[in-house]
This record gives sequence, C-alpha cells and structure tokens, in this order.
Amino acid sequence: MCGIIGITKNKPDKIGHEIFDALTRLEYRGYDSVGMALISSDGISVLKDKGNINDVGHRLNFKEIMGSTAIGHSRWATHGPPNQINAHPHSSNNGKVVVIHNGIIENFMEIKSQLIRDGFTFISQTDTEVIPHYLSKLLDEGKTMYDAIVSLTQLIKGTYALVIASTTEPNRIYALKKDNPLVIGITDNEMYCASDIPAFLPFTRDVVILRDNELAILEPGKFQIKLIPSGKEIKRKPHEISWTAEAAQKGGFPHFMLKEIHSQPEVMKTQLKTQDDVFSKFVQHINQSNKVVLVAAGTAHYASLVAYHTIPEFSGKIVVPCIASEWETVSHIIDSNSVVIAVSQSGETLDTIKAIKDAKKKGAKILSVVNVTGSTLTTISDEVIYIHSGPEIGVAATKTFTSTALAIWRIAKELAISNGKLSEDELEEFTQAIERMPEAVKYMVAHSEAKSRDLAKWFATKKSAFYLGRGAGHIIALEGALKMKEISYVHAEAYPGGESKHGPIALVEDDYPVVFAIPNDNTRVKMMGSVQEMSARGAITIGVIEEGDEEMKEVLSHYFEVPRGFSRFCSTIPYSIPMQLMAYYTSCAKDYDPDKPRNLAKSVTVE
Ligand code: G6P
Repeated sequence: MCGIIGITKNKPDKIGHEIFDALTRLEYRGYDSVGMALISSDGISVLKDKGNINDVGHRLNFKEIMGSTAIGHSRWATHGPPNQINAHPHSSNNGKVVVIHNGIIENFMEIKSQLIRDGFTFISQTDTEVIPHYLSKLLDEGKTMYDAIVSLTQLIKGTYALVIASTTEPNRIYALKKDNPLVIGITDNEMYCASDIPAFLPFTRDVVILRDNELAILEPGKFQIKLIPSGKEIKRKPHEISWTAEAAQKGGFPHFMLKEIHSQPEVMKTQLKTQDDVFSKFVQHINQSNKVVLVAAGTAHYASLVAYHTIPEFSGKIVVPCIASEWETVSHIIDSNSVVIAVSQSGETLDTIKAIKDAKKKGAKILSVVNVTGSTLTTISDEVIYIHSGPEIGVAATKTFTSTALAIWRIAKELAISNGKLSEDELEEFTQAIERMPEAVKYMVAHSEAKSRDLAKWFATKKSAFYLGRGAGHIIALEGALKMKEISYVHAEAYPGGESKHGPIALVEDDYPVVFAIPNDNTRVKMMGSVQEMSARGAITIGVIEEGDEEMKEVLSHYFEVPRGFSRFCSTIPYSIPMQLMAYYTSCAKDYDPDKPRNLAKSVTVE
C-alpha cells in the first residue's frame, strides 16, 4: 500500500525523472493515485492526480522537473475517495510544509476540528492533511521543525511512515516511522528514503532500515537518526543489499508473476542454503511450549497451515491457526508458555504485527517466517527464519508461498527428528523430498505450462470453480483457489474434499470446473471418491496427481503429474505449481494484468 520516495541531492538534477522511476518500482504495493512535490527556498510545487504512474507522470510531466529535493507518493485510498485532491503530497495553507504519509491517523477528526478553530482551511478528506497544518502552526509559533515533529508524535495516534519537507530547510527531508516501513538509501552526494529498497536500488546498495519511533533527518550525503521523543541519537551502520535492481525487473518475462513462478527452482536452492540449526531454534521453543498459535494473512496464512498440518504429528502440541485480522478471538489463550509463529512475506502486514505485539505483551515467544530483511515483524520477533525469495513484485504471491512452505516443512523435519517421530526410512524420504525440491519444481513448471495455457482458455469462460483436497491437499486447494480468484476474477472456492458434500456440490452441473490436489498420501482413496461424485454430476475435473497414478488418470478429465517422492512430505510445493500457472494464464486469457489485480495491494498496512 502507499509507496513513498524522498530524494535530496547536492545539486539540481532530473529529480522528477528519478521520482517517476522510483514510484514505478513501487507500483507492486498497489495504489490508485500518484503525486510529487518539488521543494526549494522559493516554494513547493505539487503535481498529483488519480491514475497510474505512467499516465499521471506523463500527463503532468514529472520527468521534466529539475531540482535538488523532491518527494513522491503513490496512494492507496483509505480516507476519502481516490481523486486529485486526496492524492498526496499535502501542503500547509501557507505553502511552506509538505507531507506524504503511509498509514492512518486515527484521531485526525479531533485534531482537524481544533485546527479549523485555529483558522486552517482543509482541502482534502484525508487524515494526512492535519499534519502539514499542525506543523506549520508550530513553525509559525517559532518552533524548529525537529521540535514540531516531536510535538506531532505526541499528538497523533495511529500508524505512519511520514516524509516531511519545508521551504525553510529546502535541502532537508524528515522521515519518521511507526508501524509502516521506511528505509534510507545512502550515497556520498544524495540521500533517499522510501517504503521499500527497490525504489532507490539503481542508485545505491547502502541501506539503513528505520525502526519504530525513529526520525531520520536527511541532507545530501549525510543523515542522522533520532529516537522520538527522547532525541537520543541512534548510530546504525548501513548494510549492503546483495540483490540487483535487475532482479526486481521482469527479466524477459511478460509479467513479474510469470518470472516469479519460473524463478522458484532458484529460490528453493537459495532456501536450502539455510543451515538446519536455524530451524532447530524454532524447534526448541515449540518443544518447550504448551501450545503453538499461527498468525498470518492471505497466502501467508495458507503457507502457515503447513505448520498446522505437521506440528501436532511431530510434537504432539496443540496448534491453533489464526487469520491475523481475527486475532482477538485467540488472544485469550496466549500466555508466557505459548509460542506464536507469525508468517509474512513483507513482514509489514499490520494485522499480523498488531497480533504479535499483543502476544509479546502476554509473554509469548515470537517466531517469524519472513521474506523482507529488516521488516517490522523481524524487529519484534525472538527468532526469525528468512525465506530468502528476493523481492516479489507480482501482487499475487507465488515464490514466497512455496519458499515459506519449504521453510515450514524444514521446521517440521527438525521437529520430527528431535521428538523421534519418524523411522529412518521416513526421515530419508523427508530429506530427499526437501533436497530434490528445486529439481521437482523445475520439472513441474516445464511440464505444466503448455497444458495450463490450454486449460486457461476454457477456464476464462467460467464464472466459478471449486478446488478440493484433504489434509495437505486442502492447503494446495486453498492457495490454488486464491490465486485464481485474485488475478482472473473467477469465483474459485476451496473446500476440504469431504466437506464438498455439505453444500458446494449443489452448484455442480455440466461443464462446471472442479480442481483437485491429490498427492498419493492417506487421502488419495477418499479423494478418488470426490472426483467420481463430481464427474457424475457433469463436472470437468482437473487433478494434480502423482506421476503414474493410472486409476486417477482414468477418472479425471485432465491431469498434471508430479514426480514421485513428494506425497507424504512437502506435497504443498510441487502440487501448487500447476495451480499458479492455471491462474496466471486464465488472467492473461481474459486480458487482465496478473501483476496488478484490481483492489488488491501487495502489503496491507491498514487494519
Ligand atoms: C496481501 C497480498 C497477499 C499476501 C497478504 C499477506 O493480501 O495481496 O498476496 O499474501 O497480503 O501479506 P504478507 O506480506 O503478510 O505475507
């Protein structure tokens, strides 16, 4: 959600062009309007409108703008509809202060009423607009910008990544963070701040990640970080980013999503470099706990279900899966003997972070499985496993799903070893499944693509579909249906195979699509029954099955085959690949942009 970029340079340059490019690199976050402000001692000029970066940027000539300090924003509307007026940046009435914001100011109504009584005029319906007015009021009273920002933090309640500039200090940018992400990019002559590293990656690899309640004061070539409100100076060394800006581009594929699907074998290889002892740390905490609670949203929630599916068997612990926005329901069972496992690609999903903060207050151990280095979730966790997927730009998660699932299967394996829950043969099968994963995923991508493209032409004519599976197969079905509905807008619903008789089957008629995930595990025989029930009612049945399962091939209308050796362990990964590709190609067949599904954001940083 909302993308932020701020740049200050030691001499005038094509800064509008850089803002345009940086906002383009942040497009994956999801947005509905775009804006930028150029700051100089003569004044602030703001250009903004509803629409995508390409249209707005070209229409308003962003690329022609020369200057040394500018800020840019892509807005995902929360308060007030997406339109020119509500787009960021927002300025003070006297035109001296300008602000961009990601997050929500919860008490903006009362602040707004007071500022109106003080004579300020509000133009937009946003919560953000209280900030430039309040700061300009304090500056007029003689406060410095630093003191004004400290007062602001004592007044506002809510979440924010805020970037502030003013005509009185035209080469300074103030960047303040609480709950929403902000990172700083450093060069000898420039300074950058942004919601995410790809924004400035072509210019610098030296990065500092801001933490909550930190204010960064940026000037060309130098920066200072202060803890707010104490003013204590924070010394934090920049760290060097290893991935390239190229890695964040499409690399020859028509869409990021397809590139990310194809990159999964490499991602798996990187993941396998993580040593077993990293997973063992999680295992110790799980073994010492009285229960394990999983918290996550969206695809991350489905990946977290791998833990629900494995931890009880390998540790005997009670595992409670929880969708992050439903946290309050399970919050009551958290105590100092609980382990909470948070799963999040971005590490910034606000519901997940709020749940973790609550669990932490209750003394629970917090273990996280995260992709983005240094993200908020990692700063508040006791232990972190990074999935090392690199930046994921497509809004619909693919490589981070499989990579997270692999990380959780690896936790499960260490848990099984530690508790002596598997025979030597079973352990060998488990180890092999993990080690062969890059090769298996590569095989699945290569052997599923053409068939997925063909089936997609038919799928594109359908309004709804069912996805069925049992056990681990149900996780695959859940994620497969989510992909289909997210990017191709087919109403796809997943059910446990056995549950389909309790309602869903009433909808099945001739030519109705039903997709099955059928590993050759203890659910296979019952799933065979489900296929037959659906076929008997005219459904077109598409199964992802184990290679050589001849009986299944006979009853299914279409099938994808997964190499042997992935049924009992790690099935969630190779069986998901045809689901990703069918969703991708259905979206393409309907002429949608799979990278930017309507109404969705990559990272949901509001409750
Ligand atoms: C959004 C994204 C999903 C993602 C979910 C959780 O809804 O569109 O793709 O799975 O957030 O995000 P997280 O970063 O916590 O994994």
